[in-house]
Amino acid sequence: MWLSFLSLPLFAGCAIGALYTHPSDLPQKNYDFIVVGSGAGGGAVASRLSEVSGVNVLVIEAGINVDGVIPTEVPFLGPSLIGTPFDWNFTTTPQTGLDGRSILYSRGFALGGSTSIHFMVYTRGSQDDFDRWANVTGDSGWSWQALQPYFKKMEKLVTPADNHNTTGELVTSLHGDSGPLSVSLPGFPLVTDSKVIGATSDLPAQFPFNEDMNSGNTIGIGWVQYTIDNGERASSYTAYIKPALARSNFDVLINTRVTKVIQTGNESGVPIFRGVQFAPSSSGPFYSLNATKEVILSAGAVQTPQILLLSGIGSSKDLQPLGINTIVDNPNVGTNFQDHALLSSPFTVNTTAQTTFDAIGQNATFAGELLSQWQSSRTGEFVLGPANQLGWLRLPSNASIFDNTTDPSAGPTSGHYELIFTDGFVSFAVPSPSSGQFFSLFTNVVSPSSRGTIKLNTTSPFDAPLIDPGLLSSDFDIFTMREAIKAGKQFLGAKSFDGFILEPFGAFADAVTDDQIEAYARNFTTTVWHPTCSASMTARNSSQGVLNPDLTVKGTVGLRVVDASAFPFVTASHPQTAVYVLAERAADLIKADYASNATQDPSSSTSKPNAATGVSSGSDTMLIGSLLATLMTYVFLH
Ligand SMILES: Cc1cc2nc3c(=O)[nH]c(=O)nc-3n(C[C@H](O)[C@H](O)[C@H](O)COP(=O)(O)OP(=O)(O)OC[C@H]3O[C@@H](n4cnc5c(N)ncnc54)[C@H](O)[C@@H]3O)c2cc1C
Ligand SMILES: *[C@@H]1O[C@H](CO)[C@@H](O)[C@H](O)[C@H]1NC(C)=O
Ligand SMILES: *[C@@H]1O[C@H](CO)[C@@H](O)[C@H](O)[C@H]1NC(C)=O
Ligand SMILES: *[C@@H]1O[C@H](CO)[C@@H](O)[C@H](O)[C@H]1NC(C)=O
Ligand SMILES: *[C@@H]1O[C@H](CO)[C@@H](O)[C@H](O)[C@H]1NC(C)=O
Ligand SMILES: *[C@@H]1O[C@H](CO)[C@@H](O)[C@H](O)[C@H]1NC(C)=O
Ligand SMILES: *[C@@H]1O[C@H](CO)[C@@H](O)[C@H](O)[C@H]1NC(C)=O
Ligand SMILES: *[C@@H]1O[C@H](CO)[C@@H](O)[C@H](O)[C@H]1NC(C)=O
Ligand SMILES: *[C@@H]1O[C@H](CO)[C@@H](O)[C@H](O)[C@H]1NC(C)=O
Ligand SMILES: *[C@@H]1O[C@H](CO)[C@@H](O)[C@H](O)[C@H]1NC(C)=O
Ligand SMILES: *[C@@H]1O[C@H](CO)[C@@H](O)[C@H](O)[C@H]1NC(C)=O
Ligand SMILES: *[C@@H]1O[C@H](CO)[C@@H](O)[C@H](O)[C@H]1NC(C)=O
Ligand SMILES: *[C@@H]1O[C@H](CO)[C@@H](O)[C@H](O)[C@H]1NC(C)=O
Repeated sequence: MWLSFLSLPLFAGCAIGALYTHPSDLPQKNYDFIVVGSGAGGGAVASRLSEVSGVNVLVIEAGINVDGVIPTEVPFLGPSLIGTPFDWNFTTTPQTGLDGRSILYSRGFALGGSTSIHFMVYTRGSQDDFDRWANVTGDSGWSWQALQPYFKKMEKLVTPADNHNTTGELVTSLHGDSGPLSVSLPGFPLVTDSKVIGATSDLPAQFPFNEDMNSGNTIGIGWVQYTIDNGERASSYTAYIKPALARSNFDVLINTRVTKVIQTGNESGVPIFRGVQFAPSSSGPFYSLNATKEVILSAGAVQTPQILLLSGIGSSKDLQPLGINTIVDNPNVGTNFQDHALLSSPFTVNTTAQTTFDAIGQNATFAGELLSQWQSSRTGEFVLGPANQLGWLRLPSNASIFDNTTDPSAGPTSGHYELIFTDGFVSFAVPSPSSGQFFSLFTNVVSPSSRGTIKLNTTSPFDAPLIDPGLLSSDFDIFTMREAIKAGKQFLGAKSFDGFILEPFGAFADAVTDDQIEAYARNFTTTVWHPTCSASMTARNSSQGVLNPDLTVKGTVGLRVVDASAFPFVTASHPQTAVYVLAERAADLIKADYASNATQDPSSSTSKPNAATGVSSGSDTMLIGSLLATLMTYVFLH
């Protein structure tokens, strides 16, 4: 659990622009583009499309407002949003690779989507990851080289909150300096920093130092870059949506669920889907709107396939028994689902050393002081994300698993696994002890061969779909998790950790033999919330996949997908950056498609007709009450 005791003010104040909270408040307007979801994909593509004056853009978001919600702003408090009103609170189907456990499967139920609750780690992925995308889609525009302008365009490298000298911690020339999304290095030093970096010098052959893992070659251990701006979370909301709300051609409707996309006609026998149906709750009222140009699904890798299936785009074999009329029979919708399996393993540490994160979790007075410090100066531990260092590593090429399995990774610049180093006890599987000081080793299988599915459970858009990420369901993935744990232990045995790391703690202490480590891993592994690939793009002439390389839905007109479900393969990275870069390119592809058709009418953007509409004070009060209650009682599931 993460700071569940915090009984502190949660709202800093409100500043709301052209934001609607009920469908009945929407202005009478023709929207060129209707974007479903305001997360990394939706926020970025919608904001970029609204740069064209005269093009009207509407974003429809199921989740709630985050303006002034302090835990969405304080980087360190991000994890406290799990299991709160800002979380869809999904659970997986029983996972065969996890001893049949069902696990909590958080997604952001918020303006900004998962980027308003996530952990802000900013990693682009590897050159091979994107070159593989280009390869399988037959579109060289998805290659690492071709995407470079977009990686820079999205990004604004800023100084860390403590303004320390970052020489040697990243390569400035690789980064953008004027994009909407702020990126920075950790802004508060930890006693473990020199130990982790020192260990890369102790064991350079196996654990090399990587000065900037966003260069295209991810391999090695180095400093974590975060989407943090002057000590505050930078999200799809703060970076893309909030600035665009100043434009008269950009509207956002929150608290509203899109229930399906609607066929509005046929073009040369191909169904056109320019309609959306939406409602504030399962009891309605139900509304519909048609986009004049396109509907763009950006509901994320869990719900984009759900909406497609509810709309009759999917496997007729699965849809028919549910009584859904199949309009586009595509058995690939909801398949090829990929995620990363994450495990946290704790070590006790020498108690004479300061271990910041445990001290915060165990001492409410200290935590309160840190919040005050953050509020007054945006400094201190609360500007941090969950780790100051992490790394990406490969199995040796003679690893025995390669006798049986071809390497599922994209190539030599992609890791098979990730190690994340956290200065304290942090687990998503077991509660934190109330005393003691710890160091957590996270192991993450980042080039999985496991595949899962998203299927409908019921025909109600207000019911969760069946989410099966297939975590650790392949021999390769459990082998990799086991070897990652062994490698992590070797790394923590480096001289730099002498006198600090004491011994494995809890169930981890009994995981010694290979069989024991595997049993331990199956028992405690969860997810790092990287669902992707459930509506994958493939080559235009391929019968596999769901999308064309320009992200249009195969077999339709007027419908695109711009979110993590479009990935053909999960990147060996934390995927927010790959989703943003996909959305940045998508916006240019869409603009080019309509360039000759756009109404260039500057007069349409001079007035500001949209009424400001806030969350009513009644629901604010309810929200604060319920968030406080969950913050105080929340215990991680299973
Ligand atoms: C707890 C957590 C921690 C994470 N940590 C990191 C990290 O440190 N670094 C990183 O790179 N990535 C991280 N991620 C992953 C990252 O957030 C996602 O990869 C990214 O946000 C995906 O973007 P998206 O646009 O596909 O989906 P999302 O950002 O999830 O956005 C989808 C949006 O669609 C909305 N929506 C869904 N259904 C409907 C509907 N029917 N009608 C209307 N709206 C709908 C949702 O409410 C949501 O706002 C984390 C995720 C979580 C949950
Ligand atoms: C998620 O669970 C919490 C705790 O039970 C609850 O308060 C919140 O409303 C749930 N989220 C949604 C979107 O229903
Ligand atoms: C791309 O495809 C070619 C031909 O199939 C193959 O030789 C090459 O290894 C592929 N590259 C990647 C990065 O997948
Ligand atoms: C930062 O540190 C480097 C290397 O130690 C040094 O060369 C550089 O001058 C420093 N920059 C500033 C602004 O102090
Ligand atoms: C959307 O278009 C369809 C087909 O032209 C039409 O029947 C329907 O009335 C339109 N819906 C709205 C809300 O305009
Ligand atoms: C599209 O065409 C099919 C036949 O090809 C027809 O049954 C259907 O009604 C048409 N749909 C619309 C919305 O025009
Ligand atoms: C808790 O934190 C406060 C404020 O920093 C400090 O004065 C106090 O000694 C701490 N208590 C314990 C038990 O460490
Ligand atoms: C792989 O090669 C290394 C060094 O070349 C050797 O030490 C190791 O035993 C080999 N491992 C296997 C599984 O063959
Ligand atoms: C490879 O397959 C053989 C035969 O099925 C099996 O005995 C062995 O354990 C497998 N190796 C790995 C690393 O899974
Ligand atoms: C699927 O639907 C059934 C029947 O409504 C319900 O009991 C079950 O909990 C649902 N499963 C999931 C995973 O939501
Ligand atoms: C704990 O740290 C102290 C101070 O650095 C050192 O003297 C002591 O040997 C360490 N204890 C262990 C068990 O490593
Ligand atoms: C699995 O977890 C349960 C419950 O936390 C525990 O009792 C059991 O010892 C664990 N088994 C292993 C192999 O770690
Ligand atoms: C642009 O307009 C032309 C002429 O009206 C039309 O044929 C074409 O399909 C339009 N392009 C798109 C992408 O809608």
